[in-house]
Amino acid sequence: MTDILIPSLDFLSMEDIDWSLPSSELIRFRENTRPVELLEQPLFLTQSAYKKLVLIADPAAAHEILVKRTAAFPKSPVQQKLGKQAFGPGLSGTLGQRNERQRTVLKALVSAKQAEHVKEVSRVATSDAISRWIEMGTIDLYREMSELALQITWATLFGDNQYRGRDIVVADTIDALHKEDKSDFVRSAKVVSQLTQYFLDSGRWKILPLDNPLRAIASERGWESAPGLSAEEVKANALVFTASGHVTTGITLAWCGWLLGLHPNLQESIRSQSENDDGERRAVRNLIYESLRLFPPGTEVMRHSRESITVAGTEIDAGSMLFVSLYFLHRHKLLWDKPHCFNPHRFSPEQMKNIPKGAFMPFSGGDYGCSGMSVAWAEMMAVLTQCLADITLEVDPIDALNMKLEAGTCLYPGSALKCRITPIRDF
Ligand code: HEM
Repeated sequence: MTDILIPSLDFLSMEDIDWSLPSSELIRFRENTRPVELLEQPLFLTQSAYKKLVLIADPAAAHEILVKRTAAFPKSPVQQKLGKQAFGPGLSGTLGQRNERQRTVLKALVSAKQAEHVKEVSRVATSDAISRWIEMGTIDLYREMSELALQITWATLFGDNQYRGRDIVVADTIDALHKEDKSDFVRSAKVVSQLTQYFLDSGRWKILPLDNPLRAIASERGWESAPGLSAEEVKANALVFTASGHVTTGITLAWCGWLLGLHPNLQESIRSQSENDDGERRAVRNLIYESLRLFPPGTEVMRHSRESITVAGTEIDAGSMLFVSLYFLHRHKLLWDKPHCFNPHRFSPEQMKNIPKGAFMPFSGGDYGCSGMSVAWAEMMAVLTQCLADITLEVDPIDALNMKLEAGTCLYPGSALKCRITPIRDF
């Protein structure tokens, strides 16, 4: 694969960071709050006004904290407070037993059956989007893939698992969302909540079939009660799943499309395998893996340490705030060859076994990890397979050289992800 450098964040050196910033600033993943040295070190320790902050880029420790000892390292209370402020008392806004109970009930929203529905809807919705993109000629992948991801959520979670054409309410929500300050998590959630409120006010929930997972938990009377969840919890979780579900997949699809647009040979090579289902699936999967490595939508996972832990020989006290940095792990100089370069072959079966456990965790893991991973995979595979079958994508390498990354709740492009779309066959 080529050695085209992929945009990276421009972190400050540890001496240049203003460590006296308020904790509310220091906890944010930003270029001015994370030391560039973490790209070659396993950890970095600092003290905020009231707590020890530990930035972790060590794979063994990441795996221990997120997967092996979740009870000792639960979701941090700060994260839960922010989640509650943005979404209400759903999964993001709760801890402990309340969170566990919700996770159990909400499994219906991300079951294998639901993933099948998502796959089918994604295929049809992508074909529809492609017809529009062909007319447009050049598109902003970030804008378009975000809308496509939300249209898919709307037709599955909030619809009858049939794609019934582009819904303008969804398109308007994306336009409003993209005008907001990307670092304002709470404001962005407010915009998405207008869509879930519309669902409630318009009576759209009444058309949901009995086997729709949201209806199954939301009851006959709409959102008033659900087995095991209060009305408030149902509403908060509908919002959590809509926001967490579409932003992450939308942006990953945008980056995948952009990487494809920069690598016409890769598009050709994947297409040439379309006779061989397995080969094509593996190639698309490797592209998604590599995009998630370079641009993990969740850049950092926050945890609270109830117990002490040794990270690469350094003992970390109980009571510290831990930041497992997915971005730093995924681009760490000691873990990856040419970490800032695009190379989907890293994820071929032969090479994948050399990736240390804990070095690549875009969905986090353990009890608090991503709930929607199976649905996300179904959607991303279906969308990209359809795109590769119908269109060629073309990105100007000069645009790529000038592309900046913006660190916010996700890793955003600093400007439009421009891409030229050409049909492969007549439409
Ligand atoms: C590329 C796609 C996605 C990525 C990379 C991703 C990644 C993540 C990460 C890193 C977390 C934080 C976990 C932690 O704190 O340990 C998370 C949480 C979550 N994700 Fe995903 N996610 C994706 C798609 C989805 C989808 C499609 C859904 C829903 C259908 C979803 C639902 C959730 C929920 C409900 C949470 C928990 C929120 C919370 O407890 O605060 N995600 N995801």
